[in-house]
Amino acid sequence: MKLAIGNDHTAVDLKNTIKAHLEQRGIEVLNVGTDSCESFDYPLSGYRVGKLVASGEVDGGVLICGTGVGISLAANKVEGVRACVCSEPYTAALSKRHNNANIIAFGARVVGDEMAKLIVDSWIDASFEGGRHQRRIDLITQIDKTGELPAAE
Ligand code: RB5
Repeated sequence: MKLAIGNDHTAVDLKNTIKAHLEQRGIEVLNVGTDSCESFDYPLSGYRVGKLVASGEVDGGVLICGTGVGISLAANKVEGVRACVCSEPYTAALSKRHNNANIIAFGARVVGDEMAKLIVDSWIDASFEGGRHQRRIDLITQIDKTGELPAAE
C-alpha cells in the first residue's frame, strides 16, 4: 500500500509521527506536505494529495492541518476525492465502511499523537461495505462530476 501525506505549518511534527507510524506498518508514504514551520497555505497540500489520490498514483491520503477542516475542503475540490475529517477512530472506520473515504484528515490542534495513530489505523483497517452505500457514493460522484443531482430537484 502507498499513501500520500500532506500538511501545513501547524502539523509538521504530527505529520512526521504519522509517517513513521505508517512506515512501521509497512506502508510506503509519499510526503508532499511542508517540512517547515513557516506559515504554509494548506490548500497546496490538500490539492497535491487530492490529485495523487484521484489519479490513482497512491492508494489513499492523509491530510493534517490545525483542525483538518481547511485542508480537507481543498482536497474535496478535486474530482473523485472523498476526504473526511475525523477526530476519533469510530468515525474514521465508518468513513471507510460507509463513505469509502479515500483521504483521512484530522487536526494537529485537535488530536494528540496516539489518537491520530488510532484514527489512521481505524481508517486503513476498515473496508468499504458496498451495497446501499455504493448507491449513495454513486450519487455523490454524480454531483462531483456534473454539479447536479436532477433526481433531488
Ligand atoms: C492555520 O492557522 C489554520 O487555519 C489551519 O491549519 C487549519 O486549521 C485550517 O483549517
